Amino acid sequence: MKKPAPRRRPAPETGDDGPPVPFLDLSRSWPSLEKEVLEGIAAVFRDSDFILGARVAALEAEIASLCGAPHAVACASGTDALLLALQALGVGRGDEVVTTPFTFFATAGAVWNRGARPVFADIDLATFNIDPRAAAAAMTPRTRALLPVHLFGRCADMEPLLAAAGGRVAVIEDMAQAVGAEYRGLRAGSMGDAGALSFFPTKNLGGAGDGGMVVTARRDLEGILRQARHHGMSAPHRHRFVGTNSRLDGIQAAVLRAKLPRLEGWTAARAANAARYGRLLAGMSSVRLPAPVPPGEGRHVWNQYTILCDRRDALREHLARRGIGTAVYYPVPLHLQRCFEGLGYREGAFPRAERACREVLSLPVHPDLRRDEQERTAEAVREFYRE
Ligand SMILES: Cc1ncc(COP(=O)(O)O)c(C=O)c1O
Repeated sequence: MKKPAPRRRPAPETGDDGPPVPFLDLSRSWPSLEKEVLEGIAAVFRDSDFILGARVAALEAEIASLCGAPHAVACASGTDALLLALQALGVGRGDEVVTTPFTFFATAGAVWNRGARPVFADIDLATFNIDPRAAAAAMTPRTRALLPVHLFGRCADMEPLLAAAGGRVAVIEDMAQAVGAEYRGLRAGSMGDAGALSFFPTKNLGGAGDGGMVVTARRDLEGILRQARHHGMSAPHRHRFVGTNSRLDGIQAAVLRAKLPRLEGWTAARAANAARYGRLLAGMSSVRLPAPVPPGEGRHVWNQYTILCDRRDALREHLARRGIGTAVYYPVPLHLQRCFEGLGYREGAFPRAERACREVLSLPVHPDLRRDEQERTAEAVREFYRE
């Protein structure tokens, strides 16, 4: 008997523009990962190695080595990594932490949740990172830590920040978006007192759920972090301080370890995509491309490829009509978030961060982006501005 013909899936709405260009499509890397990831997960079940355990310890060693920091302590998210780092460094009530208003909310949220006060300093529009001079100017006798963010995968200008901290004030690198990034020969996470990583699935090294890690060169911090993530327990049922439950599980570690050997290749693909946008969008007057990292100054790992552009929202709609996915990171600066009203900042306080929020647009740059998709994206940008 003849087999019934397989039911054809209806073709996606393409119009004249071809199939959609997703902003990010994690499913594309799945076929090449499936075998290792599923074997890794099966082994976790076989060994009943569910929380922390051997795989998490191995991942900690691997990430420590990747970041050039001798110690790494895994936890449940990037947000917790920030919280734990702040706690281990003694940041709490009455303290101020200088950070950027142009970042994901978690950066300042963690400071707030420690009972400390986020103090914002404006950014450098060329890099989207905190301006070291503004950071130094925002410091007061109550400043307990500086919290620069290596935004979009580019390291903050760490040398003047470390100089401003002068060893008296702690420096925490929010490197949620910047695993493997470099600054003047040093890896992200190896420059400050601690670095906080996120393994959120969209990050350059993303898990199958939430996850995070603190890396540090300070042995004294490592011990505190290990206790802090486990209710402050120093020996079975002995607590010298109050910590929390923030542990990474074996399944996440198995997934991340299966992906880790590919990170270098993915980062290179991101960098190649960024360089291609540089060529495809060169010479446009309505669009400002990300400033290149000068030779010898470091390595951008391109978690996002973010442009500044005129009429951003209209451009975004135009691209959406062509089926091209984009994102706005971030539409509202943190000093103007409702929850921080009590901090007393007004519109105009940080003009460069506010301008970034009005003008930024992130284009697809993920490692599985195809050349034709990128060409269509760039063409659609040019078409919008008729440039
Ligand atoms: C700059 C920055 N900091 C902190 C976080 C928080 O990480 P998570 O989502 O893993 O809690 C993120 C990511 O979402 C981030 O992008």
